[in-house]
Amino acid sequence: MSGMTSESTVPTLELLESVEKEVLASLAGIAGDADAEAFRIKYLGKKGTLASFVKGVKDLSPDDRRVIGAKTNALFRSVEEKFKQAPWLSGKKAGDAGFDPTLPGFPFPGGSLHPLMQIRTRIRDIFVSMGFDIAYGPEVETDYHNFGALNFQANHPARDMQDTFYVTADAVLLRTHTSPVQVRVMLDRTPPIRCIIPGRVYRNEEVSARSYCLFHQVEGLYVDQHVSFADLKGTLLSFAKRFFSDSTRIKIRPSFFPFTEPSVEVDVECFLCKGKGCGLCKQSGWLEILGAGMVHPNVLANCNIDNEKYTGFAFGMGIERIALLKYGIDDIRTFYENDVRFLRQF
Ligand code: PHE
Repeated sequence: MSGMTSESTVPTLELLESVEKEVLASLAGIAGDADAEAFRIKYLGKKGTLASFVKGVKDLSPDDRRVIGAKTNALFRSVEEKFKQAPWLSGKKAGDAGFDPTLPGFPFPGGSLHPLMQIRTRIRDIFVSMGFDIAYGPEVETDYHNFGALNFQANHPARDMQDTFYVTADAVLLRTHTSPVQVRVMLDRTPPIRCIIPGRVYRNEEVSARSYCLFHQVEGLYVDQHVSFADLKGTLLSFAKRFFSDSTRIKIRPSFFPFTEPSVEVDVECFLCKGKGCGLCKQSGWLEILGAGMVHPNVLANCNIDNEKYTGFAFGMGIERIALLKYGIDDIRTFYENDVRFLRQF
């Protein structure tokens, strides 16, 4: 290649290609400062190969100049860029006089947990510390686990095609909540049962800022002798205090679910205004975060648990809902777009 290190060489596509290969190989072979300096002079320096190509562009025909000229400049810039970014420019190597091993290393950009995963992990850690274990179940479920065993009547509106994604005509579906895993756990184990069930659920709803075709829930289930509504209330209050803040209060309102009796919805005091009323809580001072209740005796019976001897409570919360509230996000779709500008904020 010595002939090409003259002041100016008219580049051709073949020349560019072979020099690029040569350059990349010798970049990879650089082992120290001396190699790096030799590389710089040979290829990038004023009289270097690449610089001489750049100078030779002016002697190309106008047509060639457009194509080959552009390639020449691009090659020069990319080699220069690679050379600048390479670690041998950091300075001295270990063992060199003046090398300071205590200086910080190169920053490696690290990822972070997705905000939904961060919320899920915090919820999980709180319940695990209270003695709950973790159970999982399939996302493709049978109608029986998702509805039938949970005491949904055959004509219950939630079975409607509007809400449920059916995989086959009727009996196989994408679970619409994590409650079918309650059924699986109760069929599988004997009380005492104390578990939480995180997982993804699907609903055939129109995609908008407020709802998406899938989301995540954390279900809780506690079945034993003498489990009472007071246990449910105490568990959820201590969860809310640990998740939000120690002064957080909760409000329990009557509700309906086919698989719990009585059923309730639980609000937490708005953590933004501390109950005074603001935009987040729509001036009410409260934010709804979960559904809960005492496991319906029919559900216990469906799962072969003696409902004379045992009682239980269950609850289910939406992770997206809590994340939207906590981070003040107004569009649920941002959780699934994986835009790093969004994700980097967490
Ligand atoms: N599965 C209910 C839902 O998706 C929530 C829930 C779980 C309610 C457990 C009561 C008990 O809305």
